[in-house]
Amino acid sequence: MVPEEQINLFDFMQPSQHETPADFDPSLIPTSAQIPIPPGTYASIAEMVPHCNTCQRCELGQFRTHAVIGRGNPKADIAIVGEGPGQSEDEQGLPFVGKSGQLLEKILQSVRLSSENDVYICNVVKCRPPGNRTPTPQETEACKPYLLEQIRLVNPKIILLAGATAVRGLTGDKRGITKIRGQWLEWQGYLCMPIFHPAYLLRNPSREPNSPKWLMWKDIQAIRAKLAELAS
Ligand code: URA
Repeated sequence: MVPEEQINLFDFMQPSQHETPADFDPSLIPTSAQIPIPPGTYASIAEMVPHCNTCQRCELGQFRTHAVIGRGNPKADIAIVGEGPGQSEDEQGLPFVGKSGQLLEKILQSVRLSSENDVYICNVVKCRPPGNRTPTPQETEACKPYLLEQIRLVNPKIILLAGATAVRGLTGDKRGITKIRGQWLEWQGYLCMPIFHPAYLLRNPSREPNSPKWLMWKDIQAIRAKLAELAS
């Protein structure tokens, strides 16, 4: 099926109507980045899973073992957006389960946040880029409707953007992470904070004042305080 024929494959789903027809074959969609995925397409994140696992909107679909959609609490107040799956994530179908994930876990635990209950974790791209390279802007764009649907469905109070690729992928802001980490930004009505990617912290283990790890611990405390402020 050529992209032009697929363009209306989502027409059966209007925002208020999420009944999937009995004859609908999810393996047919979506196979091209030209197919729009309108906001409201999915009634739940679980509905996205078969689509992401058959998706060929970009070439990353050729390489995946599993699409990596998200983990944690889909109703959490905090969403954490990373870059893309690595090898462990691709194998397990879950984000941040490798070394970066272990560090993320420690960062969250340091302010008594549970990755199961208090956050929802996902990535800008759902399939592993070969060799763990940075996803291209085209790959990020092709995958963006899924991320937007996740954010719409989770509707978090705070979005943490882990690394420059996550900042650029969601908000389009191309500034370097060192410049903007720790600052509260507004994106489409959501309160966002860019933070260092855990993989960057693993490469920079110093805990000296003003080191990346030291700054990360300051940022997570500010995030904790903001959450308390928003709850009160
Ligand atoms: N790095 C990411 O950005 N995401 C993951 O899921 C794992 C490592």
